[in-house]
Amino acid sequence: MEDALNGLKLAVDSALESAKTDMEVEAIEIKYLGRKGELTAMLKNLTNVPAADRPVYGAMANGIKRQMETAISAKRRILSVVKMANLADTERVDVTEPGERPPEGHLHVTTQAINELTTIFEKIGFTRTRYPEVDWDWYAFEALNMPADHPARDEWETFFMDAPGSKKGRMVLTPHTSNGQIHELEKGDLPIRMINIAKCYRRQIDATHIPMFHQIEGLYVDRNVSITHLRGVLDYFAKAFFGPDRVTRLRPFHFRFTEPSFEIDISCGVCGGTGINTERQKCRVCKRGWVELGGAGMVHPNVFKACNVDPKKWSGLAFGWGVERTFMMKSGLQIDDIRTLYKNDLRFLKQF
Ligand code: PHE
Repeated sequence: MEDALNGLKLAVDSALESAKTDMEVEAIEIKYLGRKGELTAMLKNLTNVPAADRPVYGAMANGIKRQMETAISAKRRILSVVKMANLADTERVDVTEPGERPPEGHLHVTTQAINELTTIFEKIGFTRTRYPEVDWDWYAFEALNMPADHPARDEWETFFMDAPGSKKGRMVLTPHTSNGQIHELEKGDLPIRMINIAKCYRRQIDATHIPMFHQIEGLYVDRNVSITHLRGVLDYFAKAFFGPDRVTRLRPFHFRFTEPSFEIDISCGVCGGTGINTERQKCRVCKRGWVELGGAGMVHPNVFKACNVDPKKWSGLAFGWGVERTFMMKSGLQIDDIRTLYKNDLRFLKQF
């Protein structure tokens, strides 16, 4: 019995000696001191020892048990000290290793287009200004030579604000950026070379219209401004924005706030000016190879008068078109539905 107990103690000691982890120590503890452990079994066997010898062996077995317990907890302490000492190595972060790039966003295509338009016009001396996108009727229509109830207003599909009116009429969500012309002229600081890029709202939605979109408005007022200047500005813009392969044409048109007025057309970038798309069907974007860029003309004398500017001394040209539409008309972009721009599908947006 005594030999067997000492043998167990030796076995525990050597097992502990080679143990390297807490798990291994735990396994040793279970193997010898656990409920079904070897020492436990031996203690149970004391019943087979003659009654007179039991106290001696019992004391001996308990002594061995305590020695084992002490050895096990000593080993545990050693292992934890070693673990702490090695922490600097095992938990080390190599800051010189190449890192992982966090995902990076970029500006929305419309913002990119706005920036590009701004830069193009800044190069010929136009300054970007800001005017309200919720404005009085006076600025959106009345001062632009469109009196109340004039049928021309119908073309602007306007959203009205549910707000009290004023001397300047009702409040509207700006249906075009031409309100900027009036604000600018009212300041009376002439000559003027401004662009106004802002949000516009109209009650329309299909492949070429969305209820919220952006327009760019240009206004140039000086002495002796003529249609020649207008053509020059538009040609410069078409070359700078679309590239040399796109062509423009001016069609006589009617706007209440310009006289004469034109519609500016540009050859379609989706079908290449043919009017037929890649599926050999009618191009969804253009009319027979031409897309409307927007409107333009010479500032109407009534507009000058409404803003206390003398039409005999000053003359001006104005133009305006949609930012999104303009962007879609760029060469090589096969975007045939304007709504795609605002669907927030990253697979689409990431391409620009
Ligand atoms: N405001 C006009 C529109 O929304 C465009 C335009 C601007 C026409 C300036 C003439 C001069 O259709």
